[in-house]
Amino acid sequence: MADKLIIFDTTLRDGEQSPGASMTRDEKLRIARQLERLRVDVIEAGFAASSNGDFEAVKAIANVIKDSTVCSLSRANDRDISRAAEALAGANSSRIHTFIATSALHMEKKLRMTPEQVLEQAKQAVRFARNLVADVEFSPEDGYRSDPDFLCRVIEAVIAEGATTINVPDTVGYAIPELYGNFIKSLRERVPNSDKAIWSVHCHNDLGMAVANSLAGVKIGGARQVECTINGLGERAGNCALEEVVMAIRTRRDYFDLAMGIDISQIVASSRMVSQTTGFVVQPNKAVVGANAFAHASGIHQDGVLKARDTYEIMRAEDVGWSANKIVLGKLSGRNAFKQRLQELGVQMESEADINTAFAKFKELADRKSEIFDEDILALVSEEAVTQQREQYGFVSLSQHSETGERPHASIVFTVDGKEFTGESDGNGPVDASLKAIEMHVKSGAEMVLYSVNAISGSTESQGEVTVRLQNSGRVVNGVGADPDIIVASAKAYLSALNKLQSKADRVAAQG
Ligand code: KIV
Ligand code: ZN
Repeated sequence: MADKLIIFDTTLRDGEQSPGASMTRDEKLRIARQLERLRVDVIEAGFAASSNGDFEAVKAIANVIKDSTVCSLSRANDRDISRAAEALAGANSSRIHTFIATSALHMEKKLRMTPEQVLEQAKQAVRFARNLVADVEFSPEDGYRSDPDFLCRVIEAVIAEGATTINVPDTVGYAIPELYGNFIKSLRERVPNSDKAIWSVHCHNDLGMAVANSLAGVKIGGARQVECTINGLGERAGNCALEEVVMAIRTRRDYFDLAMGIDISQIVASSRMVSQTTGFVVQPNKAVVGANAFAHASGIHQDGVLKARDTYEIMRAEDVGWSANKIVLGKLSGRNAFKQRLQELGVQMESEADINTAFAKFKELADRKSEIFDEDILALVSEEAVTQQREQYGFVSLSQHSETGERPHASIVFTVDGKEFTGESDGNGPVDASLKAIEMHVKSGAEMVLYSVNAISGSTESQGEVTVRLQNSGRVVNGVGADPDIIVASAKAYLSALNKLQSKADRVAAQG
């Protein structure tokens, strides 16, 4: 029988560390539910000791997820580990993931500790964690750039203390596939008790090789866990992309001969949810989840695919959850049809009241847009989930005037803590005028570091999905808004970013 490969998703921890990708507790909860539908084995839900917000998110996820193991990261100290255990207390299956850097550079310059001190702290941390939970993962940070002799000593010692998974990170994305694969292989051969733990790979994408390195760690090195994120989200150039590593192993089963529990039909829905929540747009030519990943433009390719799909297709778009860009619902569609489509798209609503609210928004949209695609429904429910949170700022209505040769003017009505305000401004363009009209009243002082518009279903009849990234006092947040009118979508995105800035400020204040 084929060995099982464990898929460990760290979108909510390492992925969220990407500047601007920070998510609220409810957004994380929604993504965790989707990861459970995707049937990942382990969800790294956050870093419980890093903030009250992270603690609450890990706790909430631990309390609702039933099928996946829920994990929290923690530094190698008692306080962090206790916090992680506390947050994970309600989980069906929990894991503590503790780490300490082992490369000479990190130990000397960052930790200012000797190798012997690091070894001792790693042992103590794993011992302490094993007293709290049965499933303990240990990571030697910057493991790939660590001295192999020292690394073997640390790994042997932490396995002896009860670590059940050993993860070898390429923290800075420096590895080359063959070298990384052989590095893992040699560690497994040299550590005397290596068979007492599952070996795991964790690769960053700085040289664009995170997926290749992870696959080499599995094939050459014999690792049986891959750490990855949806869409490869993560700091700098990101992490190993879940959808790519999973589809490589599945498509080339002949070569890898490994079994996985993943439900691949949930891949596209997961990708969309992460992209819509964080505002990190997926590049069109991205493998598996990019808009062009299955589009055959050239005549020769189209002709071949029409005659026999496997002439140019190694995977089937529908298997990973792509649906043809067809009209699914319209103005006359009823609540039952809407509810059924939500189920088919894997969207779970908490209650009938939530379905009613989403259905009312759908009707509103259908009045303005004759053809409703799956993408519209997903954007609508993602926006719905955001607006259900207690929010300070809300969109009400907007009017604007722009004409060639004249300076555009906008008037916008929005709510602050439920009370309506009207703001007016002119600007370089109608979007600029609308956002200035909000800012003149709110006076957030935030700097806009990104503004992008994307057509949800690809044509001018589509809804525009706008992402606004704001930065204020070292905090970076993304707001996303969707509407057939891109000026309205922009205002919604701006208000959503202001809400996130506000909730982040509250979280920081709460931590004192
Ligand atoms: O990249 C890294 O080293 C990490 C560890 C904390 C596992 O994310
Ligand atoms: Zn990492």
